Amino acid sequence: MTFLYHGLEARGAVWAEIFAARVPQLPFARWGHDPVDPAQVRWLAAWNAPAEFIAQFPNLEVLFSVGAGIDQLPLDALPPQVRVVRMVEQGIITGMAEYVAMACLALHRDLPFFITEQRAGRWTYRHTRLAAETRVGVMGLGELGKAALDMLKPLGFPLSGWSRSAHRIAGVACFAGADGFDAFLAQVDIAVCLLPLTPETRGILCRETFDKMPRGSAVVNAGRGGHLVADDLIAALDSGQLRAAMLDVTVPEPLPEGHPFYSHPAIFLTPHVAAETRHGSAGEVLADNVLRLLAGDPLLGEVDRTRGY
Ligand code: NAP
Ligand code: GLV
Repeated sequence: MTFLYHGLEARGAVWAEIFAARVPQLPFARWGHDPVDPAQVRWLAAWNAPAEFIAQFPNLEVLFSVGAGIDQLPLDALPPQVRVVRMVEQGIITGMAEYVAMACLALHRDLPFFITEQRAGRWTYRHTRLAAETRVGVMGLGELGKAALDMLKPLGFPLSGWSRSAHRIAGVACFAGADGFDAFLAQVDIAVCLLPLTPETRGILCRETFDKMPRGSAVVNAGRGGHLVADDLIAALDSGQLRAAMLDVTVPEPLPEGHPFYSHPAIFLTPHVAAETRHGSAGEVLADNVLRLLAGDPLLGEVDRTRGY
């Protein structure tokens, strides 16, 4: 039985050391580095391994995502009995909370506007508001959404959140389900998308959604590029329905040269760096999960494959 890792070499080297120390009884192989007998591979860790790659392991039992999301993996081609586990790791969680705080402050204080004015050589006054006057709503109240809200709380923003099932979070107005979506949107000045990408959430940041938000509001997308309809965003920004957007994820990645997101004055773009998997802490989380597997215990971050997250 082998645990196979497919991905960045530097991460693989760190994980090999962690596994040697924490799970020495289990052979840990790095794809492209160690010899691998495909029939022995029962567990695989990967970020976005293609379907043809995964298909060569007939005895695969568990697929671990190197990241918090799993949509980048070829799940449709995966036999139904294969368990899928996402990464629930403090480095990703803290990284995302920092990114969301930074994005909300930047949008709240009109940084895209002031940077445009600076670059044009203009000293342009615009009235500023305090955080208490800007309502931030987080779409997705999972590991990342809740951590982002915790980071935002002391900054003074009135907070709300939207999820599939009902949540209760102190200091956060919680909305749930399709029925709660319009009421959620009607009261957000900055909407932050931290949803998983599923058939239900694909394209959720679209014209219909933007039209339900207060005029002049802003959007942060740190979920997946597939959540956003690019043309609808540009149209909403150009019409003034939206004031600005901060995007960490796009379709495709990387964005091709000349894409309008690069140059639009109301868009801040970062290259999928909101929350990176930290080699050390993620390796420890993975080793913990493998020890749970060996003991027959429930896994941290196991995905409900019927639900898609
Ligand atoms: P998670 O713990 O699984 O939480 C997902 C949240 O989304 C839950 O609150 C869930 O509702 C909600 N949700 C799912 N489907 C929904 C729907 N149809 N309508 C309303 N709410 C829905 O996930 P996470 O760890 O927070 O990660 C979220 C996503 O962030 C990942 O899937 C990934 O795409 C993205 N991400 C991006 C980066 C980056 O660097 N940009 C890094 C890491 C992750 P319930 O609570 O009711 O189940
Ligand atoms: C990054 O996007 C992740 O899913 O961890």
